[in-house]
Amino acid sequence: MTPPVTLTDDALLIAPLPRAETIPSRWYVDADYHAFDQEAVFGRMWQLVGHVGQLAKTGDYVTAKVAGNPVVVVRDKTGDLRAFYNVCRHRGGPMVTAPCGHVNMLQCQYHGWTYRLDGSLRGVPRFKYTELFDKRDYGLVPLRVATWQGLVFVRLDDAEEPTLDELVDGIAARIAPWRLEALRFYRRVTYDVACNWKAYVDNYLEGYHLPLVHPELCERLDVRGYTTETFRWHSLQHSGFRGTGDGYYGGDNEAAYYYFVFPNIMLNILPGRLQTNIVEPVTADRCRVHFDYYYDDLSDEQRLAEDLAFSDKVQQEDIEICEHVQEGLTSRAYDRGRFSVQEEAGVYHFQCLLKAAYRSAMP
Ligand code: FES
Ligand SMILES: [Fe+2]
Repeated sequence: MTPPVTLTDDALLIAPLPRAETIPSRWYVDADYHAFDQEAVFGRMWQLVGHVGQLAKTGDYVTAKVAGNPVVVVRDKTGDLRAFYNVCRHRGGPMVTAPCGHVNMLQCQYHGWTYRLDGSLRGVPRFKYTELFDKRDYGLVPLRVATWQGLVFVRLDDAEEPTLDELVDGIAARIAPWRLEALRFYRRVTYDVACNWKAYVDNYLEGYHLPLVHPELCERLDVRGYTTETFRWHSLQHSGFRGTGDGYYGGDNEAAYYYFVFPNIMLNILPGRLQTNIVEPVTADRCRVHFDYYYDDLSDEQRLAEDLAFSDKVQQEDIEICEHVQEGLTSRAYDRGRFSVQEEAGVYHFQCLLKAAYRSAMP
């Protein structure tokens, strides 16, 4: 793993929040930082890919991109979840191309090699004259898979730390009696955003921009009671409601929980509804954000449609500002800024975790 040549020890120092500067702009702009993020961060952390409800039966699958790698998770014949690189051992073709679905076996979409759901190579058409070829040497390459509260995670590397339990420590107790595994998958909506993934995450992690960027959301949330708490690997933005009861924005004794789990996972929990956001880096100046919607009740189609429409409106507002910010970060004018102690503890926490990840990947 090669750190960017411009990454100095000095930039990795962690100052207390009131004195800290934001991370340098080239971390959002330069291609070598994008490559370093993929290896030092995404190649070494648990990554959310979906929910067990999408993987209920043998042959059900979900796909994802993890650190740029195509991945598939499938329920095998014994009922276990298996994760593989979605990469055929012949010449690199994909077994599945949809975000999720169902298969009887994993068949490569290029020349038709077939793999069992345990990853072993089964069928190899028109290959009888190839010498020194043993099918047992050409199974799909596996990776680790684990679940928490019904959410399914994979991980590319073999390291123990941090464990999935450490990443989400305390969340289940905090959101009780809600249990995420009891919710049902409704729909995925994917957005392409012309900004670095870190600019998108920074924006998520503060309510400071709410009054100017999201005036309508401010009417539903009690922004004066908006709080940010940080934990070892995740943070929580927490808000009461104004009691309008619009959509899933509930009443006086209820609350919205906006969890961020390092490095790119967001769990937006309203009463009866979970929306996960997965921020996938694409290039230095592009990311893709997957919104997966889960509800306790899928029967009221109109209510669900209204929730998706309102979330889409808020997301378009965020996209617009994030794309402008990316231009600003790319400009000659900007290198590093400062944090509001009251409003940006979550951004600071994320950037500290990022620096620690960079540091641990330095030679
Ligand atoms: S690449 Fe998969 S069968 Fe050829
Ligand atoms: Fe926002």
